Amino acid sequence: MTVWSLHAPRSARLVDKIVIQGGVALEGTVVASGAKNAALPLLFACLLTDKPCRLRRVPDVADIRTTRNLLQTLGATIEEVGPHELIIDCSQVVEAEAPYELVRKMRASFLALGPLVARFGRGRVSKPGGCAIGTRPIDMHLAGFERLGAKINETHGYIEAVSKRLQGGHFIMEMPSVGATENVMLAAVLAEGRTRIENAAREPEVVDLAAALSKMGANIQGAGSSIIEIEGVDSLGGYDHEVIPDRIEAGTYLIGAAITRGQVRVEGARAHDLSMLLECLEAAGATVETQADSVTVGSTARARAVDIVTAPHPGFPTDLQAQWMALMTLADGRARVAERIFENRFMHVPELARMGAHIVSSGGEAVITGCEQLSGAPVMATDLRASVSLVLAGLAASGYTEVLRVYHLDRGYERIEEKLGALGARVARVPV
Ligand code: UD1
Repeated sequence: MTVWSLHAPRSARLVDKIVIQGGVALEGTVVASGAKNAALPLLFACLLTDKPCRLRRVPDVADIRTTRNLLQTLGATIEEVGPHELIIDCSQVVEAEAPYELVRKMRASFLALGPLVARFGRGRVSKPGGCAIGTRPIDMHLAGFERLGAKINETHGYIEAVSKRLQGGHFIMEMPSVGATENVMLAAVLAEGRTRIENAAREPEVVDLAAALSKMGANIQGAGSSIIEIEGVDSLGGYDHEVIPDRIEAGTYLIGAAITRGQVRVEGARAHDLSMLLECLEAAGATVETQADSVTVGSTARARAVDIVTAPHPGFPTDLQAQWMALMTLADGRARVAERIFENRFMHVPELARMGAHIVSSGGEAVITGCEQLSGAPVMATDLRASVSLVLAGLAASGYTEVLRVYHLDRGYERIEEKLGALGARVARVPV
């Protein structure tokens, strides 16, 4: 299927944007890419060993390119051995410092600190700044490293963690942070003795990291539950590992089927990783069919309004909140969306309102009164998931929608215009 040829307004050609002519039902099959949020910690895990690691199903998205750059800056060599397949060799890594220029592009770069201090006894990583969806502190990452005996110094915008050899410890997390769970796991696997993480994040990406670390020789129990126990080892080998499919990307296309009243099968989608979303889609009136290696969602009627509250896994994922809100703007009835993970994750609200959505938001709560039709408009992407919610709204809206600042989208969605085009959408990327 070719990407839709562009007959958009002349203004569309002036800057890089995604242009959508709405009103076409998505129909067909799309293959889920590897999960960006799983691939990132898996790449940082390579810092733990001087043996090569082979990572398969690596998504080709900007955050992965940023991470590759960062690892190479530290001295790693990375070979592309096939489509979506990398061999990462960190045997020559000597530099234990992740510079601001790279960390500022992506908060997840902070995941370098755990492996660096664990393997080299010292790591220095630029402190991540604020981001569009809230202040997102790193206090739990640091508390975890301190529990393992590291000394933390903060100077000139950098965080340094130092320890001769980390010692296993007991770490109770205030709330189940995905990044802090992963960073502490990445450190504890080479610590001396036993580490216990309580109130750990249970996300599938944490489970995938534990699976790869186990292949490297780590001794980890309980990943996927709220208590993770790790018996440290002296050294780790490489891994050969395939990244799990991206549940957030898959969920986005499934919501795309519902919002356009089409039918989409996402190959690779794992129903158990998406259970809360699938329940909500069924409650909204969509049909959901799950197979061993795919999920299909179809809809022929207007969605019913369904309330959601974001929560740590297995609750409704915050990374699908904006997409759900897009669906609710066209629902029959009034839906309440409560964002409980991030303090400022409603930046899509004013943009959806520009397309005719009726949303009243205050603090972390939004009430959406569904309307019969959205109307296409130029809108601004503000973060990764907010921008894709605008794409979904544009697919269902009348006329043209132009989503500006698509670099947000490119951080986490691989070839989105091609994938949507293959499902019948009229969507094009307009280069500068
Ligand atoms: C990861 C995901 C992101 C997702 C989020 C929640 C990656 C690369 N990103 O982000 O897509 O939206 O999980 O599912 O995997 N917090 C603290 N102190 C800390 C760490 C976190 O207070 O030290 C707070 C955060 O501000 C937030 C909450 O904990 O309010 C959850 O954040 P966390 O799970 O850590 O998110 P990330 O790992 O950054």
